[in-house]
Amino acid sequence: MKIFQSGAELQKYALELKRSGRTIGFVPTMGFLHDGHMSLIDIARKKADVVIVSIFVNPTQFAPNEDFDRYPRDFDGDVAKCAAHGADVIYAPEAAEMYRPDASTWVEETVLSKPLCGISRPTFYRGVTTVVAKLFLLAQPDFAVFGLKDAQQCFVIQRMVRDMNFPVEIIPAPLVRDADGLALSSRNRYLSADERSRALSIHRSLLAAKARIAADRRTIAAAVEEAKVAITAAGGRVDYVEVLDCDTLQTPTDASRRVILAAAAFFGTTRLIDNEIFNL
Ligand code: PAF
Repeated sequence: MKIFQSGAELQKYALELKRSGRTIGFVPTMGFLHDGHMSLIDIARKKADVVIVSIFVNPTQFAPNEDFDRYPRDFDGDVAKCAAHGADVIYAPEAAEMYRPDASTWVEETVLSKPLCGISRPTFYRGVTTVVAKLFLLAQPDFAVFGLKDAQQCFVIQRMVRDMNFPVEIIPAPLVRDADGLALSSRNRYLSADERSRALSIHRSLLAAKARIAADRRTIAAAVEEAKVAITAAGGRVDYVEVLDCDTLQTPTDASRRVILAAAAFFGTTRLIDNEIFNL
């Protein structure tokens, strides 16, 4: 497995691969890899000749009050996991390599990035789209795999690719859960045992709300309220619980078919997100 720290060297290597007719599958990550990430690598492995994984804790998607400094890191463990799942290349740049000190260009999606996480994290998606656009230019992927745990991120990236004509197919991958139902996230490691068991209320309340809404779409408001009450009763601080149309990320209309029921809540100081996507 090759490991690149230099973007220029990765780009040169990727362009050579393309010239020799090989397809590239790409999995962008912030490291501290878990089984959710491994499922993305497995999907890329099945589809592409060469699999590139990036490991980069991207400073521009963290607000000053967020967890950039303490975001968990385990580079050696990540390398071993990528090798075990058949990745061919790791790109692991330093922040100074990724962003010049006087960098002044952003890539910003301005509609789908606004609701849900965009409200409490107003600069988050601008950081994500900027770094993903840069990573696409460096890794030159034919396919890029994004997990639906961060479904809004996946929708924002799909819109960016469409609007900016990136020649990349975005492959959304199913959310992966632990046996007890908690959505896998590198941030789960911040949770105490007690917070973790209380945090299961997020998935449970989403499942209850989904069942109610799928049976009768007129219950959306009541089901959302019930989910908020259940998460709060379990000791969580709700950021949002919402049902939105998957295509527009606006309130569903009579014409809406596929919706996302999404939640974000704090347990202790840890902000967790989860969602269910289903047809009305
Ligand atoms: O989902 C993530 O881990 C990050 O937002 C991403 C896509 C790697 C960009 O930094």
